[in-house]
Amino acid sequence: MTKREHVCGHTDVPLSEVLAALKASGAEDFETAHPIPAAVNHSMAFHAHERERVFLDDWICIGRADEMAAPGDYLTHQVAGVPVLIVRQNDNSLESFVNACAHRFACVVSERKGNARRFVCPYHAWTYDLSGALIRAPYMEMKEGFDVSDHRLRRIHTEVWEGFVYVSLATHPKDLHEVLEPFRANVVGRYDMSCYRTVMRETMVWDANWKNLIENFTESYHVPMAHKKTFAKHKKPLEEYICGEDSLHYGYHRASQQAETGKGAAHPKNSRLDGEWRRMMVDFCIFPCHLVTVMPDFLWYISVQPDGVGRFTATWGVAIPPEVLEDVVPEEYDRWLNDLRDYMNVANDEDKLLVEALFKGTSSTLLPKGTLHPIERNLWQFTRYLAGKCCPMDHI
Ligand code: FES
Ligand SMILES: [Fe+2]
Repeated sequence: MTKREHVCGHTDVPLSEVLAALKASGAEDFETAHPIPAAVNHSMAFHAHERERVFLDDWICIGRADEMAAPGDYLTHQVAGVPVLIVRQNDNSLESFVNACAHRFACVVSERKGNARRFVCPYHAWTYDLSGALIRAPYMEMKEGFDVSDHRLRRIHTEVWEGFVYVSLATHPKDLHEVLEPFRANVVGRYDMSCYRTVMRETMVWDANWKNLIENFTESYHVPMAHKKTFAKHKKPLEEYICGEDSLHYGYHRASQQAETGKGAAHPKNSRLDGEWRRMMVDFCIFPCHLVTVMPDFLWYISVQPDGVGRFTATWGVAIPPEVLEDVVPEEYDRWLNDLRDYMNVANDEDKLLVEALFKGTSSTLLPKGTLHPIERNLWQFTRYLAGKCCPMDHI
């Protein structure tokens, strides 16, 4: 991004200075840790650096596998400014491509979702099958030696983990399943999130750095104070939150509610969860930008993409376990869904104020040193991840 919507004392801080501050912050012990250095969320140089080190390198969630259930179902998304196309194949696997034609690179698919048997570039009608192979190129027989098999949509890496679809633009991305296996095996695997059915996919654009949303979502300290119209009504005592182990790939905290039945608890037909897990909520972040709240009867996810230093797009959705969804009477479904969307929008509006306030407040170069509450450990874990990705080789 070259346009400057927002300029502050951190905007032109050189990369070396930001990296030094981030590295020092990532090396602190949690007990004495401070909030992430403000320049990390405001420096133009760091913004370009993290695009390369984080968004062009790591796994980015683009949605849920059940949003593309049938062969030919597709989603489009932006990852680090790169348009991507994710398609359900005839053999039921998922493949992803850079959404740019193999001729002169026009964006091939402009719809955000749909179903297709083939993809036709709007420019000169080069046509691709679901696997990205070029199957037709009008008039190209006029070019001697032209062979459609020499051209295709560029593939990118795709993985499905626990019902979520991730893509990576890296040449050799890390093994996503391997690094998340401890978290799956010990914490969230028991929910079987892949069986939850996605009921909505929405987008919102907020005026803050993308990391401000990560900071906000990964701590529940603000919930009793900031979510009075929504989540605070089901609040769990802050003293009972447990922050998960330190990982450079994910962070989470969890708490169970008192009530064994009703909202937030497992449906009687849910045989996947036992004991306290039948009323447990887990908030987690798969670093860098995939945020999830999972409960026995509900799942909310957000995937964040920067649109410059001071703006981001958040794609979010809700998924519901099948046994809970079965209880929604078909004639009531539309109203039920609208009520759920309204509720989530109120919660999002509650957070928007805070997230934009974080960006605005940290615009100052005159800040006190700050501190972190014990249940803000996930913020420190994220800082360590970011330092590891962005700082030179001898990082933490
Ligand atoms: S750019 Fe797509 S067919 Fe020419
Ligand atoms: Fe919140």
